[in-house]
Amino acid sequence: MLVIEDVSKSYGQTPVLDGVNLAVPAGRIMGLIGSNGAGKTTLISIAAGLITADAGTVRVGEGRSASVDVASDRRRAAGLVGLAPQELGVYPMLSVRQNLVTFAELAGMGKRATRERVDAVVDALDLAPQLAQRADTLSGGQARRLHTAMALMHRPAVLFLDEPTVGADVAARGAILDVVKELAREGASVIYTTHYLGEVSDLGADVAILHGGSILLTGSVKEVVDAHAAPSVSVVTAGVPPSLPGWRPSPLEGGHTRWDAPVESRTANPTAVLADALSRLGAGTTLEAVDVTPASLESAFLAVTGQRLSAEEVPDVAHA
Ligand SMILES: Nc1ncnc2c1ncn2[C@@H]1O[C@H](COP(=O)(O)OP(=O)(O)OP(=O)(O)O)[C@@H](O)[C@H]1O
Ligand SMILES: [Mg+2]
Repeated sequence: MLVIEDVSKSYGQTPVLDGVNLAVPAGRIMGLIGSNGAGKTTLISIAAGLITADAGTVRVGEGRSASVDVASDRRRAAGLVGLAPQELGVYPMLSVRQNLVTFAELAGMGKRATRERVDAVVDALDLAPQLAQRADTLSGGQARRLHTAMALMHRPAVLFLDEPTVGADVAARGAILDVVKELAREGASVIYTTHYLGEVSDLGADVAILHGGSILLTGSVKEVVDAHAAPSVSVVTAGVPPSLPGWRPSPLEGGHTRWDAPVESRTANPTAVLADALSRLGAGTTLEAVDVTPASLESAFLAVTGQRLSAEEVPDVAHA
């Protein structure tokens, strides 16, 4: 399992993490979500032993044990931890097979185990046709799959995946989610960061929201949604602006305006909120569209952090 206790980190004078606590039991996946710059990559880098924290501890181990301190016992930690960083880390001059074998050797795996494991991960991530191909000739999504495969080679007890599906197509994304679930079923503790919140549900993962330097809350997706999310209600109008007290207007193309119901009003009964709004539309106002979106992890995130994980927050696939 993985236990992160009171981890803090500043870059220069700028604090990024301020007392982070997070535990991931064996066999569980934790979806770590937060806005750009929230500190997810920093936290993962500390937990994987790549950079040191200013304060706090990170311990890892097999099963229920978390006896290995990643900062003071780097060698043992390296055998337990797998990391697929946010930045692609494949050796461009080597083939897919050579990348995997080299990584396995670095992790101390034997030849036979390596051969078998290469076959298994290549199969799981659908990279068999590319085995002999040089990494620098792979497509973006294939390179991302190879990068993920490398982190899985030594069946780490604790696995960190930092936005592993950026640039992956639908099939690749499904394959990545499946291998992550498989490793968790085998008993690994997984931390998985993503801006695609649907993936957290697809993984059956718990969720941890990192914001303002600490973990604001953790729980199952259902717990978080039930406790914090509200359905969203909006209408689009044209013509005379309606009087909708508290509703937030945003101009749209063609002289249309989108009106979002205030968060406080929409928790209990979105239908009633909508009915009230419609009754306020007078002559001269045209109703163009009505939208009721059920409570979701996205709306829980928005309610808890006051920040939108909107389209512009989704990483640009061109960078993958
Ligand atoms: N080496 C560094 N030196 C100075 N500042 C840094 C360094 N690395 C990260 N930061 C800053 O720390 C903050 C957290 O960065 P981090 O990469 O951990 O965020 P993140 O949650 O992973 O964001 P994203 O969703 O964009 O990947 C950012 O403001 C970033 O600019
Ligand atoms: Mg990051």
